Amino acid sequence: MSPTSDLLAAALAQSGFHPRLPQQRRLYEAAKAAIHQQRLGAGGKLPSSRDLARDLGMARNTVIAAFEQLAAEGYVVSSRGSGTYVADLQAHSASMRGVGATPQGRSTAPAATPSARLSRRGQELTSYAAGPQFEIQPFAPGDPDFSSFPFKLWQRLQNRVWREARNDLLDYGQSGGHLPLRQAITEYLRISRSVKVEVEQVMITAGTQQSLDLCAQLLADVGDTAWIEDPCYWGARRVFQARELKLRPITVDSDGIAIAAADLATKPRLIYVTPSHQYPTGAVMSLARRRELLDVAVRKDAWILEDDYDSEFRYTGRPLAALQGLDHDDRVLYMGTFSKVLYPGIKVGYLVVPPALIPAFRSALYDLQRPGQLTVQATLADFITLGHFTAHVRKIRQTYGARRELLRHMLAQKLPRSVTISREESGLHLVIELPDQVDDMALAQQAAMQGISVKALSTYYLKPPIRRGLLVGYAYCTPEQITDYGRLLGTIIAAEAAA
Ligand SMILES: Cc1ncc(COP(=O)(O)O)c(C=O)c1O
Repeated sequence: MSPTSDLLAAALAQSGFHPRLPQQRRLYEAAKAAIHQQRLGAGGKLPSSRDLARDLGMARNTVIAAFEQLAAEGYVVSSRGSGTYVADLQAHSASMRGVGATPQGRSTAPAATPSARLSRRGQELTSYAAGPQFEIQPFAPGDPDFSSFPFKLWQRLQNRVWREARNDLLDYGQSGGHLPLRQAITEYLRISRSVKVEVEQVMITAGTQQSLDLCAQLLADVGDTAWIEDPCYWGARRVFQARELKLRPITVDSDGIAIAAADLATKPRLIYVTPSHQYPTGAVMSLARRRELLDVAVRKDAWILEDDYDSEFRYTGRPLAALQGLDHDDRVLYMGTFSKVLYPGIKVGYLVVPPALIPAFRSALYDLQRPGQLTVQATLADFITLGHFTAHVRKIRQTYGARRELLRHMLAQKLPRSVTISREESGLHLVIELPDQVDDMALAQQAAMQGISVKALSTYYLKPPIRRGLLVGYAYCTPEQITDYGRLLGTIIAAEAAA
């Protein structure tokens, strides 16, 4: 048996190595892993399919199929008559120029593997990307209650849009989004959020993430500085990192972003804030801080990106006016989303830009994004103009408010005095503030083992965290879940805080 057969046999025999996969796939996985780990080195010759099949006790066709898959993905290079060789994964740049060589010196260079093809930026981005989470467990912060969505009503409105069979709704849309939706949003923002806005300033985007990305692309260059809140919404952080901006974390206290003298020594191009309900701490930016921020933006010639992601969920009193409404210098780009109030997969948000930026944003939206989704936008426009949006917000606000109170009640029964629950009356999550000595990440992990998905506050900081805590989402949890898991979470925290 050759050393390669030995190595692959050992990998296959390893307990738990894809035991349920077909043999061909297991062999492919074993060989791929060995190539990645360089246990099978570049240029090394693999045994013939006949020998390997004999050594591993497999059918020859199984081995041939595995070799073919490895060759198709660029892990090995097969050459008729001369055998199969391990490809040089590092040589992809040469292979793209067509000068790579097989061990025989011919220029049939292997295609690079998907991971080897990533750009430097791509590698950096994926190295810290958390990836999708498929299962929503109780208390994961952020999601609304899907069961409250008016499915039947939506279906009726959507059917009506499709029945009209309008050709213009099938195109990408060139003017920043479906006009009736932009009109409806303009009206809503003027009345509910005190935003100073004309319909031309409103662009419909695929949500806040895209709004932020457009801003980063159009308003900042690689290496420019973006001030972000510390702690900060990870989605904003990711966009700015992807656009290669220098991040300057600015401390957040109970009045929102607190700009220090050392911060003023830097020159931000963008300032990202969540004034109505700071994400994740929940702080509301005071009027004095809002004025100060607007003043700094003018002095620094910076743009303020106001993310007003969940202002619909204010459970007592009137929603607070947007920062944009105080801006007299056209420094603020205001953005909102339907992710929270309807459902995240709708992928509809809006961006209000100062008048001077309208042409640039409109053409960039069209050129870079090819927006489309006009039938969804038309359905949403009807949903708002026919009064369903306001009714839906009223209904879910009540539901969430009651869930919030229930959660507070369940936790308060268990938590010691050293642990406090955030008092602000808005949003889709609570923050449980922990004493400094409690490791919030360890606590979140402990809760996860019991099926509870809270997030540690310290993971949202760029600088060393100044507060420890847990973010607890409640919007989509049923009262029964809140009662049971709230009690359990309270018990877990109490045990840790007392230790
Ligand atoms: C602060 C903040 N902004 C925006 C969003 C949602 O953005 P999008 O419209 O991209 O879904 C979230 C979602 O969790 C958020 O926490």
